Parts: sequence; C-alpha cells; structure tokens
Amino acid sequence: MADMSGFKVAKDFHVSEPVQTSGEFYVKGANNLDWGMKRHLSHIFNPKSGHTEMFAFDHGYFMGPTSGLERLDLIIPKIAPYVDSLMATRGAFRSTIDPAYGKGLVLRASAGSSMLQDDLSKEVLAVDIKDAVRLGADAIAIQSFIGADGQLQSIDNVSRGINLGYEYGIPVVGVVAVGKKMERTDRFFKLATRIMAELGANIVKSYDCENFDEVVAGCPVPIVVAGGKKLRESEALELVDRVMSQGAAGVDMGRNIFQSLHPSEMAEAVGKIVHEGFSAKEAIEFYEDAIHPAK
Ligand code: R5P
Repeated sequence: MADMSGFKVAKDFHVSEPVQTSGEFYVKGANNLDWGMKRHLSHIFNPKSGHTEMFAFDHGYFMGPTSGLERLDLIIPKIAPYVDSLMATRGAFRSTIDPAYGKGLVLRASAGSSMLQDDLSKEVLAVDIKDAVRLGADAIAIQSFIGADGQLQSIDNVSRGINLGYEYGIPVVGVVAVGKKMERTDRFFKLATRIMAELGANIVKSYDCENFDEVVAGCPVPIVVAGGKKLRESEALELVDRVMSQGAAGVDMGRNIFQSLHPSEMAEAVGKIVHEGFSAKEAIEFYEDAIHPAK
C-alpha cells in the first residue's frame, strides 16, 4: 500500500474537457476485439505504419533442417532485430529465441506431415493453447488446406484454434496452404482467405496472385503475404512492393530472407517497403548500398 504521509486530495478533474476513450483500432477488422487481443496484434503490426514484416522460420516443422536454417542459433539473431515479428514453432522459440526479444511472436500450432509424404494436407492442432499462453505468444498460426484431401480436418483445426484463441485472448493466423495439386489463382485465394476470415481468423497468410487487390478487398482482416521459393533479391523486393501497393498488411517471409547471402540487409530492405513506403527500386538500391558500402 502507498505511504499515506503527505496525501493530497484529488481535485484536478478537468471537468470542461471531454473524457477521451481509445478510438478506432488500426488493425483491419479488429476494432471489436477485446483489449488484450488488440494488444497482441499491436505487437505484430507496427502501430506507426500499421504493417508488419513477419519473419517465418517454421519450415523445419515438416521439412527438417532446410537450407539456410541448419543452425537456428546462428541465423535468427542476425535477422530478428530487423523484423516486427517472428513466426516459428514452440521448439524453435524455447531453444533459440532470447525471451527478452520484445517483438511479436507468432506460434506455428498445426503439424502432422513431413516432406516424405506426397499429401501434406493432413494436420492436427499440435499445440495446447495453455502452452501458447505460457510462451507469451501474440498469435497462433494454423494451416488450412482448402480443396485438398485434408480440408475438413484442417478446418476443424482452425476452428478449434479460433475457439480457444477467443477463450484465452490470443489472435489466430489462418494460414492458406498451397500444394502441388492446388490452384494458385485469384479465384482460389479469394475463396481460401475469405473462408479463414469468416471462420474468425484475425490475420490471414496467403500468396501473391493476379488481382491481389481484389483478394485483399474481399477479406475483412489483414492479409500477410508469404515470400515462397527463393527469388533473386530484386525480384523478392518487387514482390513485396507489388503486394504492399495492392493492400497487403505486410509479409510473412522466410526463404527470401534466410536464404539470402545477406539476410540482415535483406530483412532491412523488406522493412523499408513495408513500413516506409520505399518503391522496389529504392529498396533494391538500399540493399545494394548496404552490401557494398562506399569505402
Ligand atoms: C511454411 O512452412 C510456412 O507456412 C512458411 O512460414 C511460409 O510459407 C513462409 O515462408 P516462405 O516465405 O519461405 O514461403
């Protein structure tokens, strides 16, 4: 209890000034969420730009030690300072990430397949929501396989995750999966992203496609775009520019950062587009200057 000596009676209530309540929340579709959910989202989406550079390194959950991610302890600390949020498994977080890392944590919560299989669409919800709470996760990410054999199970995973997310105040990222046999058309992404949002996902992870602006318009929550297979740095930065200028709320990029020869500089260049409105050309120049500093 506070020491009462010198206690002053409250008298300065500024009665002529209307009381301010917090205004509209800046994350798309999140205005009616609980305060705690909004707080988690504000750890992922930068409050100044409203956008996020999410760095994904959860690939090991079905691919094992992917090129670039052989040693999480060596690569992740080079990249983490330049991004807004990390997307990974609980095994990677607990073993590799400094708990003092103060930015967003997005926990991959579905699993069940490995690259030894042809059909990767059959997953389960692999993380107990209480463990997500213990970790301090700002969101859990659950994959959906719309149009694939595992669709029903994956929608069950997403729906159960969303029910638990609302119960425990943790947002859900609905991850739209693409497989070898699955379409990569705007028709598919409009369908899959909208299904995720209607089920209650608070963020949707999807892909670049034709008419991406229409995919964004039809999805009432923010879309973050995966980088996909490794491209040349200039092409990856063009992809980021293209989707950001069509309304993406950010990227959820993995290989195009961790497989770059200069991962820190690449992460920084991506952030220039995501947060500062750099064009692809400006970001490419920034990247080139960063890797070849003037002597
Ligand atoms: C796949 O395992 C994950 O969902 C990745 O986190 C996602 O695809 C983003 O990584 P990348 O940019 O390498 O596709």
